[in-house]
Amino acid sequence: MKYLIIYAHPNPKSFNHAIKEIVGENLRKAGNNFETRDLYGIGFSPELSNNDFVAWQRGQALVDINREQDYIRNSDILIFIHPIWWFNMPAILKGYIDRVFSYGFAYNVNENGPYGLLTDKKAILINTTGSAEENYIKYGYKEALRKTIEDGTFGFCGLKIIMHKYFYAVPYVTDQARQKMLEELQGISL
Ligand SMILES: Cc1cc2nc3c(=O)[nH]c(=O)nc-3n(C[C@H](O)[C@H](O)[C@H](O)COP(=O)(O)O)c2cc1C
Repeated sequence: MKYLIIYAHPNPKSFNHAIKEIVGENLRKAGNNFETRDLYGIGFSPELSNNDFVAWQRGQALVDINREQDYIRNSDILIFIHPIWWFNMPAILKGYIDRVFSYGFAYNVNENGPYGLLTDKKAILINTTGSAEENYIKYGYKEALRKTIEDGTFGFCGLKIIMHKYFYAVPYVTDQARQKMLEELQGISL
């Protein structure tokens, strides 16, 4: 199995960075082959511009998009690691989806409507939040994210989500609780 970590956080001191490191370490220990796309690190441009549309109209993709699509083509399992910002993914990752998960690559349309093209791949989602789990459930945020991110985005493209792990209220819990979260992650075999 080939894994691709798609990571969206600008701060190397963040909890998400620690998550990325542990996931990489878990994959390494298990002898799994993986690549990492650190979207801030590579300076990925999230702006879906007219150049993208012009390329699409020619049945092509821009150079930076071809490169990212190749990473996905060569992977079996995509691992998305990011914080929840405004009850969504960070804009850089949203722009990555806008540009990389394009028509003809991630989905297609026939007389029955749209269908996903990434059906041979699976996805693991790891998210951190500021709000507590009880709020995510009480106010329907978790269900909203299930619909928009799991179903409306990755499911739409045919990806099978095999794990969606949340670490809640990360900035507001104790250091000890954060440490426990990382230990839990260390114990998860991917
Ligand atoms: C721009 C921004 C928007 C945020 N929006 C939300 C939100 O909608 N819901 C939530 O639970 N937390 C929100 N947070 C809190 C982050 O999810 C939280 O700080 C982060 O997951 C902690 O992980 P980190 O230390 O790796 O950044 C937001 C934080 C920022 C900076």
